[in-house]
Amino acid sequence: RPTPTAVRPAAHFTAAESWLNDPNGLLYHDGVYHLFFQTNPHGDTWGNISWGHAVSTDLVTWDEKAIAIPCTPEEMAFSGSAVADVRNTAGFAGPGQTALVAIYTSARTGEGSRPPSQSQSLAFSLDGGSTWTRYAGNPVLDIGSSEFRDPKVFWYGGDDGYWVMVVVEAVERRVAIYTSPDLMAWTRRSSFGPAHAVGGVWECPDLFPLRIRGTDETRWVLIVSLNPGAIAGGSGTQYFVGDFDGNTFTAESIVASDRLEDFDWLDYGRDYYAAVSFNDAPDGRRLMIGWASNWQYADLTPTSPWRSAMSLVREVELDRCADGRLRLTQRPVLPGETAGIEVFEVTVPCTDGERTSLILSSGTGNDEELVINVDGSARSITCDRTRSGEVSFSADFPSVDWAPLPAGTGDEVDLLIVADSTIVEIYAAGGLVTFTEQVFPSEPLIDLRIERGIGDR
Ligand code: FRU
Repeated sequence: RPTPTAVRPAAHFTAAESWLNDPNGLLYHDGVYHLFFQTNPHGDTWGNISWGHAVSTDLVTWDEKAIAIPCTPEEMAFSGSAVADVRNTAGFAGPGQTALVAIYTSARTGEGSRPPSQSQSLAFSLDGGSTWTRYAGNPVLDIGSSEFRDPKVFWYGGDDGYWVMVVVEAVERRVAIYTSPDLMAWTRRSSFGPAHAVGGVWECPDLFPLRIRGTDETRWVLIVSLNPGAIAGGSGTQYFVGDFDGNTFTAESIVASDRLEDFDWLDYGRDYYAAVSFNDAPDGRRLMIGWASNWQYADLTPTSPWRSAMSLVREVELDRCADGRLRLTQRPVLPGETAGIEVFEVTVPCTDGERTSLILSSGTGNDEELVINVDGSARSITCDRTRSGEVSFSADFPSVDWAPLPAGTGDEVDLLIVADSTIVEIYAAGGLVTFTEQVFPSEPLIDLRIERGIGDR
């Protein structure tokens, strides 16, 4: 087999020369979208974890900047969020300035008899995000735990509002909720979990309101990443829909089931993790980015000198489905005519007895392909990347992933497929079902062939 091209994706963000994992500190401020990310400035595997930084004005092209929060001999800067402190609650800003404040996890390895610890810390920027200073009073929230991380902070309410933090107690499979007037003093208000998928640690929570499409009603969505134990195996992201009263999140329904497919998943593929949303996105949009890899093999994917990419930016909305259930729909922010990206939009039948295969290949006659099957009898969509090119770097990589067709899906299913070198994103059934999959073909997968009624693919 020829060595993989591992051509860098065109519209999916990659760090120029290094490793990346979770998106951090997603923030829109002053016309600029900020994407921070977990990175190793010195290598292409996980380690020396620091916050990298990139900016965009169109959510498609990203300009990588200097490291925002470097690791130090004392701590790595684990995942977290960023806010624009427009009311200067923390007091970092001088007259006429707005401080951008990052809330990150200080991950310290224990020295001597000291146990390792994870606590929440601040760094701030007074120049719109170019340079960052660690707050001298760090950490601001320390409960003496070594598994307490990934704070997502947002402003709740109007001028008399306050800051809310969702943060995980990872091993307990619990999201803790804290509030603060000033980003420094935090009071614990409640917790949520364990619930639904608990086969791994909980990480990278997010909490945000959304209007139910076509109504004036609002619900809150709690995002929880899980590693391992996700629907497709390894790491993945689940969500809960419910209410938030400023202190406590209450899920609308907790399903009494241990079947993973009965829970709500942000993605049914192998490569969508640690997804979180932008603070302060304009026009009330809720925009998310996930890390397009999986902890099962993230260190091994055959690319160089970069490793791992972000997903496209996705806009999420909340829909009431035919079975009464509230579910997220997703839609990517698509690039214009960018060389190297293929976008396919098709609608295929899914009546009983009907099966359609969508085969993504290079079109040059080699045998590499990614196969999507829409099965009207099984009422399912599957995505098979077992023959998608280089798959041998990890026994966990070649996979056939699966999602049930959502309730209310009629006799047809619409699919939007984005193929961008090493990443394929599939949005099906109005965006109710998505698959994000890495592929390492020897030639880019740019050709889509549709075959009806084939039973054995
Ligand atoms: C999720 C995660 C976070 C942690 C970060 C470290 O992928 O494990 O929980 O903060 O990665 O890089």
